[in-house]
Amino acid sequence: MTVYNNKVEIQKHITKLRSQGFTFGFVPTMGALHKGHLSLVNEALTHNDFAVVSIFVNPTQFDNPLDLEKYPRTLERDIELLQAQSGNTIVYAPSVQDIYEGQTKAERFDFDGLEHEMEGKFRDGHFDGVGTIVKRLFEIVTPNTAYFGEKDYQQLAIIKKLVEKHALPVTIVGCEIHRDPSGLAMSSRNERLKPDYKKEAPFIYKTLLAAKKQFGTKNAKEIVEWVENEFSKHELLKLEYFIIADVTTLKSIETKQNNTNYRAFVAAYADDIRLIDNLALN
Ligand code: PAF
Repeated sequence: MTVYNNKVEIQKHITKLRSQGFTFGFVPTMGALHKGHLSLVNEALTHNDFAVVSIFVNPTQFDNPLDLEKYPRTLERDIELLQAQSGNTIVYAPSVQDIYEGQTKAERFDFDGLEHEMEGKFRDGHFDGVGTIVKRLFEIVTPNTAYFGEKDYQQLAIIKKLVEKHALPVTIVGCEIHRDPSGLAMSSRNERLKPDYKKEAPFIYKTLLAAKKQFGTKNAKEIVEWVENEFSKHELLKLEYFIIADVTTLKSIETKQNNTNYRAFVAAYADDIRLIDNLALN
């Protein structure tokens, strides 16, 4: 497995392999790899000759400097985990300089309003940062296909929009959420959960499941109120938002329509750690 820190070198390597007819599946990550990431790499290896994994904590997508500073960085362990998977994997672990060349700033994007819902309301400029890094990584790696987890469902929708609006020559594949046996959605942030919070965090998924159960009989507004009330009684978890949204527009709804797919989305704080999750309702 080769690890590159420099875009010119990885580009040279990929260009050479591509001229021999090989295909590339790309998994962009911010490191602190867990089973969810490894399943994306596995998907990439199954459907392509090479998997390219980027490991880069992207500063322009953090609106909170403390969150950026505390984001787990475990490069050596990440590389070991990738080495343990069989297959042709190429790692790109660049510096901020290699990506941003002294201009650590996000471009501005118009994602047709998707960027203003949910995470966009609470994390200022987040999706401009995500759009900036993903577009640059696509230009460097030139993958055939890129794989993203559905845990960041809004991010996945925005990346599909980025590809469509900028006519980028890459296919986007969304992969289902991986969960701990407790139901907690796997996330690099889970590593920072203190034991009490880790024990309580599965409450998020349990509440999503309960909301799904109610979706058949109750309207969205009632379910949202019920969830908000459940969280208000919880001693450790603080709800930031819970919404039921149309999967295409990501706009929250109060009343359901026929022939429309809905998902429930939640963001909650466990101490200072922000956790998100979502679940298909129909
Ligand atoms: O989902 C993530 O880890 C990041 O947002 C991504 C897509 C790697 C961009 O930095």
